[in-house]
Amino acid sequence: MKIQQHIFLIGFMGSGKSTVGKLLAERLHLPFIDSDKEIEKTAGKTINEIFSGEGEEAFRRLEMTFLTQLSSSKPSVVAVGGGFPMLEGALELMHESGLVIYLNTSLLTLIKRLKEEKQDRPLLRDLSDSEFHPFVEDLLSKRVHFYKQAKLIMPNERNSPNELVEKLVKELNKLID
Ligand code: S3P
Repeated sequence: MKIQQHIFLIGFMGSGKSTVGKLLAERLHLPFIDSDKEIEKTAGKTINEIFSGEGEEAFRRLEMTFLTQLSSSKPSVVAVGGGFPMLEGALELMHESGLVIYLNTSLLTLIKRLKEEKQDRPLLRDLSDSEFHPFVEDLLSKRVHFYKQAKLIMPNERNSPNELVEKLVKELNKLID
């Protein structure tokens, strides 16, 4: 399979984009790029620091800059932050320069995973236990419509990351020829 475009992984926080993206990139012999990590490298700050220092708007601008610069780089597997597809023009740009895959994970699975990983996520870190579920449910419901505009929708629920990668490779083979 000759991949001549980017493969974008989109989905809510905790849907497995980075874990699966890394493995998929290895399997396809492509570079792996994580938008959050790239933005942190360029800014010289963590995502938490950017949110608390310059605010969410500034972070979203950095995400958009990252995406526009990416169009000219060689084909890669790109895991993008959960809020990325909602930026104006972002989905269009991703569709133009690559194939967009949505890792679709249920609300309950996301909540279970995210409760353990909320410290690195500025949108979640200050939520109390009782606020957590309604917040994630509400944000997910606002975003699903965007995520579903992906070319490929892959459930990521009970399978291991490696199993999912094999499924993705099969689907990619059908789509890219
Ligand atoms: C965000 C998701 C995070 C990160 C930032 C905002 C969001 O990325 O970009 O904390 O708005 O959903 P992950 O989806 O990789 O956790």
